[in-house]
Amino acid sequence: MANNDDSFYHVFPKGFIWGMANSAYQTEGGWKADGKGESIWDRFCHEDASRIKDSSNGDVAMDSYTKYKEDVKLLKDMNAKMYRFSISWPRVLPKGTSELVNEAGIDYYNRLIDELLANGIEPCVTLFHWDLPQPLQEMNGWLNEELVQFFAEYARLCFSRFGDRVKYFITFNEPWVFSMKVYDFATFAPAIKEPLESPYKAVHTMLKSHAVAYQIYKNEFKDKQKGKVGFSVDSSNYGPKDPSSPTDLEAADKAFQFRLGWIVNPLINGDYPPIMKESIAQQSKLEGRSTSRLPVFDPESSTILKGSIDFLGLNYYTAELVTTIKAGEEANCPTNTPGWNRDLGLDRIRDPNGKLCGVWWQRDVPTGLRNTLNWIKKQYGNPPVIITENGRAESDDRLEDDDRIAYFRGHINETLKAVLLDSCDVQGYLGWCLLDVFEWSDGYTVGFGVHRVDRTSQEKTRTPKKSAKYLAQIFKENGFPDKQ
Ligand code: GAL
Repeated sequence: MANNDDSFYHVFPKGFIWGMANSAYQTEGGWKADGKGESIWDRFCHEDASRIKDSSNGDVAMDSYTKYKEDVKLLKDMNAKMYRFSISWPRVLPKGTSELVNEAGIDYYNRLIDELLANGIEPCVTLFHWDLPQPLQEMNGWLNEELVQFFAEYARLCFSRFGDRVKYFITFNEPWVFSMKVYDFATFAPAIKEPLESPYKAVHTMLKSHAVAYQIYKNEFKDKQKGKVGFSVDSSNYGPKDPSSPTDLEAADKAFQFRLGWIVNPLINGDYPPIMKESIAQQSKLEGRSTSRLPVFDPESSTILKGSIDFLGLNYYTAELVTTIKAGEEANCPTNTPGWNRDLGLDRIRDPNGKLCGVWWQRDVPTGLRNTLNWIKKQYGNPPVIITENGRAESDDRLEDDDRIAYFRGHINETLKAVLLDSCDVQGYLGWCLLDVFEWSDGYTVGFGVHRVDRTSQEKTRTPKKSAKYLAQIFKENGFPDKQ
């Protein structure tokens, strides 16, 4: 049995899926090319450049809108078997609704999909990676339940136009990050500080939208297309600050329930986790409210949500340690701000045992990934999981990115232990990110890419970093066949 910090030399089961991930706004550019509509990120960056650390935006980004063939070549050179990219909703539906379909936008994705398949790379398509059409934001975005219908129309369009060749769809990317960064931290487009109710409402609408889209796929497309529909969630690992303390162990479990369970419990069991329902109801009462801030699923939504994923996408980057807040210390606890944080009501720190990465929130803790995979296995009966993002930030784009290599090595090795020693049903691993891309409110000041991009050149020249070559070897050898 390999211990936490030991390297484990073995290969993954045959057919394990290797690849890289990316997203539309962060990479494509072509922000108004060929009839594309405006997204909330276009509006957010253009309206006030100071919202982004280096006053940049995704107008041109890595210009993958024209350079997509080069991206596919890089993937091929890495021995990737899958590429996860997202569709820009306003590129295919400029107004957000099916009233106007932009055929030029559809053609772009057709070209990308065909190029991938011609190179033996399976496309994995995310439908919502945060770039909502601006006209839908004007209707109040995800706080408006009418979006369930609009998302359903958009999903149907994507299934019908791409599903003959795309066999892996992901409806949503990371609702926790999206709703917290938009409505709590107010640092992501459209940045509306309403932490008490809005994160819960937004996630509620997204979950209902997913369920309807899943039904559409199942009833109208699945028999013929034989694809899978999944959902990507984010989570840190949550460990006890004091591993010998039963209350800290309980606290770690509560944090997982609030972060992962908030989204995954409805997808698997049709409702929010009981501890979340109790805690938020209690906190709402203390605030003098007559009802809980956590919305309730109507019976029909609950029924169609239950069991509505063919696979779970897990995006894992870092680990936290948790403990309870000492009585009387509530006001001094930095992780006790109104909203989700106070509802969770725990003292949390970034795991100091891991090396600090190029962003403040990231520590390199590979064992946390194995623990998170095991938490999912135990909590939800071992559902099929694909790691749909995992990678390390650097504050520069050095080509000799040895710390990133160490990060990948550690995390992939812990995944191997989870698969072979713990029997977690992990079916694939996608690294983040193929390129150094627009990192949301951090602009281009940090990079997760395994390829450097010279943004000053007309060609947006891509250069492999050492980590791209390292992953190419792991992908080829299907793991760690021998000591090296
Ligand atoms: C995820 C997100 C990606 C990327 C990554 C690194 O939360 O899905 O778009 O930005 O984090 O921060």
